[in-house]
Amino acid sequence: MSKPVALITGGGSGIGLAIAEHLINAHGYRVVILDVNKERGEAEAKRLNVTDNCLFKEVDVTNFDQQAQAFQQTCEWGGGRLDMFVANAGIGDGDSVYKDLKGVDEKTGLPKPVDLRTLDVNLNAVIQGVHLARHFLLKNATSGGKIVITSELSRRLRQPLSTTVLGIQARFSWLRSLDRARLRRNGHHHQCLVAGFDRDEPDA
Ligand SMILES: NC(=O)c1ccc[n+]([C@@H]2O[C@H](COP(=O)([O-])OP(=O)(O)OC[C@H]3O[C@@H](n4cnc5c(N)ncnc54)[C@H](O)[C@@H]3O)[C@@H](O)[C@H]2O)c1
Repeated sequence: MSKPVALITGGGSGIGLAIAEHLINAHGYRVVILDVNKERGEAEAKRLNVTDNCLFKEVDVTNFDQQAQAFQQTCEWGGGRLDMFVANAGIGDGDSVYKDLKGVDEKTGLPKPVDLRTLDVNLNAVIQGVHLARHFLLKNATSGGKIVITSELSRRLRQPLSTTVLGIQARFSWLRSLDRARLRRNGHHHQCLVAGFDRDEPDA
């Protein structure tokens, strides 16, 4: 019988890498790691690849075509099966509405747009990834499959949220808003793996 196959975004370091290692060593998975950091991702996949059980692909998850091709290649490499998708890639804060407003465009005098790449990576690419995962999970010979999303459970709601935390937390809210009964009709299971703060901060 063929081994189960997982696709992990941002699997070149941290939580994603730990999940890859755990799936390979404890559950006999074959894992494809996607990451924008080619050097680190390739090195880690090489370390984990003992019996053709780990592969690295350089992919920017905000590029839909790149992510879609990676799904396709994963299914081919996995012998026509995909058992788990882990939407984990994320980035830290790059910009904020609280930034210094003196940074206007010299020619127009207008403020430069807020850089919302955090939302592109931390939220939009996750939604596209889940959309792609559902398409490929349905191609499995036997129905079923798991979708895992790493998120943020910060309850520091009295604090202003940075766009990073907002994007990561929104993953959690989005997952909770999904019609799970409808998704389960295809045998798909969704889980959210949360990290971060879990207590209210006292008022300043
Ligand atoms: N570590 C924490 O305490 C914590 C808390 C809350 C949420 N999270 C979330 O959990 C996830 C993993 O966190 P981590 O601590 O392991 O972070 P990490 O920085 O170690 O790993 C994130 C990985 O994503 C990759 N990545 C970034 N942008 C990408 C893109 N566009 N396409 C493909 N890969 C990309 C990075 O290169 C990196 O390898 C992140 O989404 C993070 O926001 C982490």
